[in-house]
Amino acid sequence: MGLLAASLISALLVQPIVSRCDICLLQQVVDPDGKAIRALLTLLNRYGKHRYEAVSSKGLGKSSDDMQQYIFIYRARLVNVTAQHQYNGKQAFVRPPFAVQFYCNKTDIKEFILVPLRSDPEQAIQEIDSLYDVFEEVSAKWNNTNVMFLGDFHASCAYVTRSNRKDIRLYTDSNFSWLIGDGVDTTVTDETNCAYDRIVVYGQPFLMAIQPFSGKVFNFGKEFKINQRKVLDVSDHYPIEVRLKGSAFLLQATPLLILLGVSVIVQFFLPAV
Ligand SMILES: *[C@@H]1O[C@H](CO)[C@@H](O)[C@H](O)[C@H]1NC(C)=O
Ligand SMILES: *[C@@H]1O[C@H](CO)[C@@H](O)[C@H](O)[C@H]1NC(C)=O
Ligand SMILES: *[C@@H]1O[C@H](CO)[C@@H](O)[C@H](O)[C@H]1NC(C)=O
Ligand SMILES: *[C@@H]1O[C@H](CO)[C@@H](O)[C@H](O)[C@H]1NC(C)=O
Repeated sequence: MGLLAASLISALLVQPIVSRCDICLLQQVVDPDGKAIRALLTLLNRYGKHRYEAVSSKGLGKSSDDMQQYIFIYRARLVNVTAQHQYNGKQAFVRPPFAVQFYCNKTDIKEFILVPLRSDPEQAIQEIDSLYDVFEEVSAKWNNTNVMFLGDFHASCAYVTRSNRKDIRLYTDSNFSWLIGDGVDTTVTDETNCAYDRIVVYGQPFLMAIQPFSGKVFNFGKEFKINQRKVLDVSDHYPIEVRLKGSAFLLQATPLLILLGVSVIVQFFLPAV
């Protein structure tokens, strides 16, 4: 498929991570012609019992040699994409969020908007704060305040300190709930201990529709018994995840929960050779 050997190994590790999730966000994806994503979908659809589809932003970034995409991979028989919108905020963001509205009739909240952000570390404070403007735009556009932000915000350590929070409306407006706490380490190496990756939701209705305490890091090294060097081939961050509650009547039949995963994939999609 034009994938290099090293990237194929990573793709083989990414497949079991993605296939745990009903919806999964991949960030830092460099796949302008869509080949790598098609290969990953083929892998997922061949070996799993679910059918997966993907929705992707275009390449986003400051310079043509560093364009990255946001890609959602989802179980097509469970959720539908009902709308998508590329936020046009070149002043506010290096990689403006790509908002996608999903419909799922098996969750308490039927229609919700996912807004990914991989912030530029040098302007993380400003970019996280600007998510508030994205919230206002998409919630008005689709008349839906069930909005979740997710991704590598760089919201910790040197990039965002405790004293910076007064300048971030996602902190100062208590309508927003941060589901990955400040004490969580989302990085792989022992040298760093930072809660860079976050999930934030707006409003009580969405918060109530989330399984309590389900926001956490997925340590796939431990789970799949692979060593740190191999883990680092996939990413220097662990995926984070959260579970949405299912409808009461469906809960009786099957304890179905939507699992949202965030994988921070470091360019395992190498350009085709
Ligand atoms: C979701 O998409 C599937 C496949 O395209 C379609 O059959 C189904 O009717 C859609 N459901 C909703 C609620 O839009
Ligand atoms: C739920 O959604 C699925 C797929 O989108 C569809 O096939 C099914 O008919 C829907 N069920 C209800 C009760 O709307
Ligand atoms: C927006 O959503 C609310 C609550 O779901 C609903 O009552 C209202 O009619 C909707 N407005 C429009 C313009 O669709
Ligand atoms: C929460 O949202 C409501 C409705 O938009 C707003 O009136 C209120 O001021 C917000 N709360 C805070 C603490 O900002």
